[in-house]
Amino acid sequence: MPPPTGVAAHGRTSVIADHEITNSKAGAWDRLGSAYWNRNYDGGPNPAACAQYLEGLAAGERVLLVGASTVALARAVLDAGAELVVADFSAVMLAELENLIPGRAEFVRVDVTRADSRFDGAFDLVIADRLVNRFVRAELRSALRTLSAAVRPGGKMRLSYRLGLYERDEAVLSEAARRGVLSTVFDEAEFDVDYSAAAEWLGTVLPPHGDIPTHALVDFYVARGREHRIRTGELDELAAQDVPRGLRYETAHLPVPGQGDDFLLQLTRLA
Ligand SMILES: C[S@@+](CC[C@H](N)C(=O)[O-])C[C@H]1O[C@@H](n2cnc3c(N)ncnc32)[C@H](O)[C@@H]1O
Repeated sequence: MPPPTGVAAHGRTSVIADHEITNSKAGAWDRLGSAYWNRNYDGGPNPAACAQYLEGLAAGERVLLVGASTVALARAVLDAGAELVVADFSAVMLAELENLIPGRAEFVRVDVTRADSRFDGAFDLVIADRLVNRFVRAELRSALRTLSAAVRPGGKMRLSYRLGLYERDEAVLSEAARRGVLSTVFDEAEFDVDYSAAAEWLGTVLPPHGDIPTHALVDFYVARGREHRIRTGELDELAAQDVPRGLRYETAHLPVPGQGDDFLLQLTRLA
């Protein structure tokens, strides 16, 4: 990481603040916090998917996990005896995870979609669970640049993604169509959804997420705002444009076990 510009205290947590977080989507995760995993909702990844992320990882290797909400994956990295750095733009998510694994990882507060975000290029493995589905296309491109550059020669980046629309998107889009407001929640040309335009009626069509109260869920999705949905072949096209020049790599797309429409983009940095 570049030298930190400050250290912010969040409860018991010390979080390195590399720069101010200006991304309004961070508020969605800050407000939901640990309800994401302790209200009988399973946002993934499942145990077999955790094993897939970590295949080939040796004890002592360095792992960058983007997304403190993926508690199971953080624990799996520690169980493998690897060194863990958790990056997240949500101070609350970082603090909540640190409460669960105190002193066992480094916690870095950073928005990986910012053009000026960067890590040292010395990670054996860079992983994130469906993080790329939380972005618009420009954010996705920027994050691909930053995260691929964090991989050491011979290391891997593994990012899972949902291909196409989510089931909940189908429900939201069909209700929007019924109301005659489809174009406000779905940009067909960009293949983006934006639940913020559905705030008034979203709660009537969202599937339950465990015991997370509907009002909290609506707030969460509305604050997440616009998200790009991923088309077949798109990530390879973007990698070709956005992985930094001079960095030689190959990609593979592996089906995620137990997650029908999810795939793992595996980028291996060639030595
Ligand atoms: C890994 S993602 C996705 C989690 C879940 N598996 C899903 O399918 O939605 C969620 C985590 O990433 C973090 N996150 C989202 N966007 C981010 C960004 N631009 N920079 C850093 N962390 C981000 C959130 O705060 C949250 O803790």
